[in-house]
Amino acid sequence: MTPMLSISVSVSLSGVLVGLLVTFVGFLLYRLRAPTLPGILTAPRSIMTPYLGALPAIIQNYSWLSQWKNVWMKETLENQFKADCAALIKAGASQKEAEEQVKHREALVWSFFASPPFVELLSPRNLKFALGDAFWSFEKGQLVHDAFDELLGSGIFNSDGEQWRQQRKVASHLFSFSRLSNHMFNVFQEEADKINAFLHQQAASGAEFDFQRLMFDTTFDSICKIAFGMEMNQVGAKTAHPFCESFDMLQELVTARSMSTHWSWKLKRLLNFGSERIFRQHLRIVRTFIDGIVAERLKNKDEYADQSDLLTLFMQDAEKRGEELSPEYLRYIVLNFMVAGRDTTACALTWLFYLLHHHPDEEAKLVEEINSTLMPGVQPTPEAIKSLLKLEAAFMETTRVYPSVPVDTKECVEDCQLPSGERLPKGTCIIYTPFLLNRLPSFYMHSSNAICASWAKDCEEFRPDRWIMDDTAAGEGKKKIFNPSAYDFITFNAGLRLCLGKTMAITEGKCLAAAMIQNFKIRVRPGYKPQERVSIIYAMAAPGLPVTVERR
Ligand code: HEM
Repeated sequence: MTPMLSISVSVSLSGVLVGLLVTFVGFLLYRLRAPTLPGILTAPRSIMTPYLGALPAIIQNYSWLSQWKNVWMKETLENQFKADCAALIKAGASQKEAEEQVKHREALVWSFFASPPFVELLSPRNLKFALGDAFWSFEKGQLVHDAFDELLGSGIFNSDGEQWRQQRKVASHLFSFSRLSNHMFNVFQEEADKINAFLHQQAASGAEFDFQRLMFDTTFDSICKIAFGMEMNQVGAKTAHPFCESFDMLQELVTARSMSTHWSWKLKRLLNFGSERIFRQHLRIVRTFIDGIVAERLKNKDEYADQSDLLTLFMQDAEKRGEELSPEYLRYIVLNFMVAGRDTTACALTWLFYLLHHHPDEEAKLVEEINSTLMPGVQPTPEAIKSLLKLEAAFMETTRVYPSVPVDTKECVEDCQLPSGERLPKGTCIIYTPFLLNRLPSFYMHSSNAICASWAKDCEEFRPDRWIMDDTAAGEGKKKIFNPSAYDFITFNAGLRLCLGKTMAITEGKCLAAAMIQNFKIRVRPGYKPQERVSIIYAMAAPGLPVTVERR
């Protein structure tokens, strides 16, 4: 090869290499750019940086994530509303005409770092589309499955398609089963007695304790009895159950996983490093506990045949169909029901007492209702508990202001168009955030129900009375609980995946709260402001809810 030729070959080779490098960097930058979707309102630059998406803002605001999201989303929607009005006014409309014609936006796009675009749904009709009318076009999706698979496996919360349909069928059959509901009521009453005994001790000592932990312990005890007939006796225990500690930690870690990039947490998992190392340790503890119970149940099937618990009923149902459920499948049934049955209701009860502490007038109404309905020292009947309307209203209002599941996502499995007009290409993730929507005036303004539309003006306030309405069918002066469409009140999800345990949660919440309110005043540490524990559920970060109690 002549020197000239070799120079030109090496020049062209380095040119190709530089070209490849530039293309690769360009491709990386293209992939990492914060995605936008044409025609959909985009989060402002202060939130969504060009390449890192919302990641810097998320890191900066992690300790109050849900509240922070509410603040900037509301601001963005209001600013856009004003801009849309200004455009109409410029075109000749009066201020009044513009405000009447312009509607708040019903979708907003943003993204985490290197994630697909997330489209936040902001109106009841868009929720109805995604969770109801176009249900089969939306699945939990790969992002959720990847992050949650090791914890929730093929359980009902983490499955799609036929696998989900089959579990939903069995589970809904179980929830409508009166044997189970009588069994549940007795379990809740036994728990109420245990809590009262513990609160008597605390009142006598005057010592401060974490009320949130007490609520998580009692719902743990009750779901263990309901799910697999086991007496855990955690209420009043000195230390938290190792399963509970690990289970709580795992829920925080999977939430953090779902907010970071796929490759970063997967690499850490591969290397067994950092948070993924901690994840593995806690997963072992959780699985050892559950697998032990499942193994015992499978070994001594006949001994448990007469029990009314969930595992027995699932196993009997499979037997009828000539199937045998694998230990792994049973493990995930139990774990999914733990999230569903323990954590959600515990959060709601904790926030209820926090809110009552700050609204003594509302607490006084409940004391009066409970004292005029329940005999002191006598176990209430299911009918008596059912008749406590003010208590139910306060519980529902708590789940509106502090929804136990603060945010949910789905992935679009085919191209769709939202009723509000925005197009969603296949692969887009949708987010709906009960913690935002339940406090967002424009969400209620979009409602076609007059009562819900009227909540726009005071949706950020805790006002239990909004749930009580006249029951004209039952007679003059009779009252009942307002039952809005699940698309207007999204706390318990909606459509085909509507929460199956709503009635159970309300019954448990009312049984326990009635017993506590009747006998004790629960007082939060003065000046205490709870911080958010960023997790699947909306709980308080350590130290939980520090309280003292006094006897009434
Ligand atoms: C205040 C209490 C509760 C709230 C706020 C609540 C809320 C929710 C929400 C938001 C979902 C949808 C989650 C998703 O997208 O996967 C859900 C689903 C579910 N909930 Fe509840 N829940 C509560 C209590 C309970 C209880 C006590 C049980 C019974 C053990 C239960 C059983 C379920 C089940 C089985 C599903 C799955 C439904 C499906 O995917 O088809 N929930 N719940």
